[in-house]
Amino acid sequence: MKPSEPRRSPRPVPAHLRDLLAAMTLDEKIGQLVMVSLGAETIVTGPKAAEEPSVDDVRTGRVGSVLNLVGRDRIHALQRIAVEESRLKIPLLFGLDVIHGYRTAFPVPLAETAAFRPDLWEATARAAAEEATDDGLALTFAPMLDLARDPRWGRIVEGPGEDPTVGRAYARAKVAGFQGRDLARPDGLAATAKHFFAYGAATAGRDYASVDLSERTLHEFYLPAFEAAVKAGCLAIMPAFCDIAGRPVSGDRGWLTELVRDAWGFDGIYVSDYDAIGELVAHGVAADMAEAAARALHAGLDVDMMSRAYPDGLKPALERGLVSQTDLDAAVLRVLAAKDRLGLFEAPYGRGDPSRPPARSRDARRALARDVAAASMVLLKNDAAVLPLGPRGGPIALIGPVAARPAEMIGSWFCLGDQEEIVSLADGLAAAFPERPLTVVEGCDLDGDDDAGIPAAVAAAEAADVVLLAIGEPAGMTGEAASRAHPRLTGRQRDLARAVLATGRPVVVLLSCGRPLVEPEIFEKAAAVLVVWGPGSEGGHAVADLVCGRRSPSGRLPVSWPAAIGQIPVFYGERPSGRPFAEGEHFTTRYLDVANEPAFPFGAGLGYAPFDLSDPVVDRPRFRPGEALRLTATLANRGSVEAATTVFLFVRDRVASTARPLLELARFRTETLAPGESRELVFTLGDDDFALLGPDLAPRLEPGAFDLSLGFSADRRALRTVTVELVDADAAIV
Ligand code: GLC
Repeated sequence: MKPSEPRRSPRPVPAHLRDLLAAMTLDEKIGQLVMVSLGAETIVTGPKAAEEPSVDDVRTGRVGSVLNLVGRDRIHALQRIAVEESRLKIPLLFGLDVIHGYRTAFPVPLAETAAFRPDLWEATARAAAEEATDDGLALTFAPMLDLARDPRWGRIVEGPGEDPTVGRAYARAKVAGFQGRDLARPDGLAATAKHFFAYGAATAGRDYASVDLSERTLHEFYLPAFEAAVKAGCLAIMPAFCDIAGRPVSGDRGWLTELVRDAWGFDGIYVSDYDAIGELVAHGVAADMAEAAARALHAGLDVDMMSRAYPDGLKPALERGLVSQTDLDAAVLRVLAAKDRLGLFEAPYGRGDPSRPPARSRDARRALARDVAAASMVLLKNDAAVLPLGPRGGPIALIGPVAARPAEMIGSWFCLGDQEEIVSLADGLAAAFPERPLTVVEGCDLDGDDDAGIPAAVAAAEAADVVLLAIGEPAGMTGEAASRAHPRLTGRQRDLARAVLATGRPVVVLLSCGRPLVEPEIFEKAAAVLVVWGPGSEGGHAVADLVCGRRSPSGRLPVSWPAAIGQIPVFYGERPSGRPFAEGEHFTTRYLDVANEPAFPFGAGLGYAPFDLSDPVVDRPRFRPGEALRLTATLANRGSVEAATTVFLFVRDRVASTARPLLELARFRTETLAPGESRELVFTLGDDDFALLGPDLAPRLEPGAFDLSLGFSADRRALRTVTVELVDADAAIV
């Protein structure tokens, strides 16, 4: 566990903003705290508002921010009303869910995480920010940092998986990428760390359901990515819809203010989730909109997205003495300061200025999309090296409902992707195999009962040398409000797969999904399984790059892949149990009907070259607090092609005041090696890597033995371990 990083020092509020605050009426103050979806006929991200907002609300200063409006002309037209026609001329803040690209789609976030490449995570955020700011936007509701262990929860697709160390690295990369060198520049896009927090632990994976976790688990697993985002300077945070043990986060001062603002030093703004403040009534912690508004404002929540709790409820709340003018002024000042940091007062039309040349060409964006998509795909099985397929040879049958549907490449929740520009699997593969006959057959529908095409699919398989079976779950069945009790293939695809597998032809499954799909029988019978996720605009090309061997697959699973739905949640960071599983022992922790292990562990993934890793060596077997410990190992590519692999370094604290997880990730590193090349890897560890949260949840060091384990995944049987001892640490605080 990595303890808290040092507190961030909040920025002072500029004097001109205090003067502005002093000039504002009550309505104008409340207006700055209101965010509405305006003029957005096409993008709808929540329930319809009872009362439609209007442009006149901007003119009268009753709206401070807008979401879901796209197009620089429309954005500038509305901005003009705010800065030229409203009394105080305060600019609007325009936000949108720029999740995995703006026009060019990059892989869905869970997929991108699988690349284990912070440089790429940052690069795609930067490219998306360039496109979005070119269109006039100043704020994205991303990155989503919700740790997720439950593939029933549809939003697992939007975040960085199950590991807090990966979550931290992802948070830093995304904040840096979106916000750029300087937020005030016209290409700075403010990041929103969301959904704060533990939203991914919704009961039974059902979206919006209550969360109930121990404080320790919250601090060790669910908070670290958000803390990293704050320390990286993210401008905004969106509190989650959920309650945690009866405390709806949107109305919780303890989490929002005492922890994040006071202890971590967050000086940005909280933007509510869609309608979330009003939903405090449904949660049962507020009797009406005035109480909901008062509770949220006092908690520290600055901007009300679409619930009308602030515009309708704050005045009565002030009159009833439910909330103070001081809380109101503090929130208004924070919103003004955020707009100031974005340079909006000085240059309200700076973003979307048509005279500014695009930061990079379309070709450069497409090349990045192709590179990241290929780096994200995870090869889980490749019997008898069926992949890659040679450039010449017999016919290839591309079968399945995902084969020729470009929309399925783009994944869940895509912004403005130009649908004509998405490369389908069929197009990508046809371009990669000009010399092999390629037949494309749909076989069955992606969802629904139509299986009339199965006989044609079987015939195509029989006539081919190899089958590429493009199946999965519809992109629209992942994301928000897309929980599934059966995270499996949809429609009749299982029947299609069985029929094609029964032909005896080698079958390579190309699995398009936004979460692990539990299909052990198909995984068992297929010769190869490549998880392609929702790969984005260049999906078809990227898949083809791997299938034809132009490049070796290198993605690794950012979540454990369950072998059975009943194992969920299955994740590697479990605590040991007093009765660890022992083969043949009845009274140990286990299932009677399925193994404890997932089908594929966190970190699993193959490439076209085998890698060797030497035993790790440490520069000192005993160390003291404050000392750096160096661990080295040699990585070697034993194959005949260039390939990348990810090496994971785990720590296990063997004996501590609190039972520690069996493995905790300290470092990961993705390396590309030429055939036959070896490389020495050096990892430097310090106090943070050995600290734990004590019984009081404060970080500390405890003396004793730690196992340091290196490997290619969290499969404990395959790790190489060296044991070190921390001495002279008498529960030292770090
Ligand atoms: C939502 C989502 C959130 C998003 C917001 C605005 O319902 O939960 O992730 O940012 O609406 O679109």
